[in-house]
Amino acid sequence: MFHKAVLLLYNRLLHFSRDDYQKFSIVNQYNNSEFVMSNDRVIIFDTTLRDGEQSPGASMTKSEKLSIAKSLEKMKVDVIEAGFAIASPGDFESVKAIADSVKDSTICSLSRALDKDIDRAAEALKGANSGRIHTFIATSPIHMEHKLRMQPDQVVEQAVHAVKRARNHVADVEFSCEDAGRSEIDFLCRIIEAAIDAGASTINIPDTVGYAIPEQFGQTIKTLIERIPNSDKAIFSVHCHNDLGLAVANSLSAVQNGARQVECTINGLGERAGNASLEEIVMAIRTRKDLFNIETAVDPQFIVPTSKLVSSVTGFAVQPNKAIVGANAFAHESGIHQDGVLKHRETYEIMSAQDVGWNTNRMVLGKHSGRNAFKTRLEELGHTFETETELNHAFANFKDLADKKHEIYDEDLHLLVSDNAAKHFEDKYELVSLKVTSCTGEIPEAEVVISIDGKEAKGVAQGSGPVDASFKAIESIVASGSELQLYSVNAITSGTDSQGEVTVRLDHSGKIVNGLGADTDIVIASAKAYLHALNLLGAKVVREHPQTAEGV
Ligand code: KIV
Ligand code: ZN
Repeated sequence: MFHKAVLLLYNRLLHFSRDDYQKFSIVNQYNNSEFVMSNDRVIIFDTTLRDGEQSPGASMTKSEKLSIAKSLEKMKVDVIEAGFAIASPGDFESVKAIADSVKDSTICSLSRALDKDIDRAAEALKGANSGRIHTFIATSPIHMEHKLRMQPDQVVEQAVHAVKRARNHVADVEFSCEDAGRSEIDFLCRIIEAAIDAGASTINIPDTVGYAIPEQFGQTIKTLIERIPNSDKAIFSVHCHNDLGLAVANSLSAVQNGARQVECTINGLGERAGNASLEEIVMAIRTRKDLFNIETAVDPQFIVPTSKLVSSVTGFAVQPNKAIVGANAFAHESGIHQDGVLKHRETYEIMSAQDVGWNTNRMVLGKHSGRNAFKTRLEELGHTFETETELNHAFANFKDLADKKHEIYDEDLHLLVSDNAAKHFEDKYELVSLKVTSCTGEIPEAEVVISIDGKEAKGVAQGSGPVDASFKAIESIVASGSELQLYSVNAITSGTDSQGEVTVRLDHSGKIVNGLGADTDIVIASAKAYLHALNLLGAKVVREHPQTAEGV
């Protein structure tokens, strides 16, 4: 009884009073239905496909983005930021494809506070059930003076104009104050009040450079909500970067102080040190419900499969000790821990591995499985094929794999389709054959045959190991002049027959790409990844970066 009373008092101090929560009652005009943002719901806004894709080398194809979006929809993420529609024709097409086919989540496109951006975002979102335009402008003195070269009055004027223009297209408009973490509170109050008056129903407070500290950031959110007279007409959101490793802590502190939307990414992917990680935010709120007294709509069962999908699509491996989704997150090494967990799981575990989707890698298919079973299982995993040719190609690869590896797990299927998606019919380079010799006391040598625009060429080279020799053999043919920045191999299932998933990051005059390759033979996987990276370097996709492009 005493315990419960203390808890209630603590929760009351931690959160706002019930009256304060009524402030969050807003009308979701898009669906013409009223929903009350009470103290028990936080909107999860995933920006893996937009901010996540801004990580160097993390660019994704339209079909990869669609697969991830479908996985996020299954996970019941409320809002999916599908991209920055004006960045390139490819980005536009991705946002459009997601808006056209993902129906249960709100689909959002980013846009600077510029007419052309806003109109392009609206165009891409036309097919959405529920579409949101997210427009932003920088509000910190340093950004306004040096990047925008604008006076604060002009910034307010442009923000108001942008929100109104977006509202002419859609009812659901989010406005962000870029670099809010270093902005002056008085100016934030002024511009946010004006943006809400202009029709923004979500106000996002980004800590763009990851400068904030939890207690101070929480206080900022509280002050904004208390001081801005029309704050009850909008949901306050946060978007934290991880430069000081505090993105999740800052976001949670903001939630404790009234934020009711958190912007985050799968695996914490994102610009520089990344964004707040979705899985950590969701599981912290869920596991410490006693403190937060709040919920998200996310179904955690989909966390691990989605994490694996994002990791294999982007080539950004998840560190083994990463919370929730790292391979060791639920592994108990020490004998004392193992003994405790076996006797009573909660002695050392605060969450269950099954709850977040671990250990669901049942064997699904084998060498006798048919094309329909293959297609159906992939659809269940969120993969769709745009053309019959793509499906046929993937199925042929599946049969090859099933010949080498009898048990095909979901991880294998994810990898197979992302490896398949990595191949484009217009690819310049393709691996034809690879022979390596590696023997104790001898220098490893590789002989590679690749096809260049359909014509075969052969290269031979020695190296410090079979992979090094293979890369040198490829370079002896293509002489790309690129620099190898990262090489990583990841066994995707247990057992020595596992497929190796290789990432090769190449830098060519500042253009960074991540090539991916998968095979049960890791030297072949490596050569495939190297050639994939070379193909990506050749496919010159010119994209605007939302935060450095001119015009704002
Ligand atoms: O970090 C940031 O400020 C952003 C905005 C565009 C929301 O990503
Ligand atoms: Zn960001």
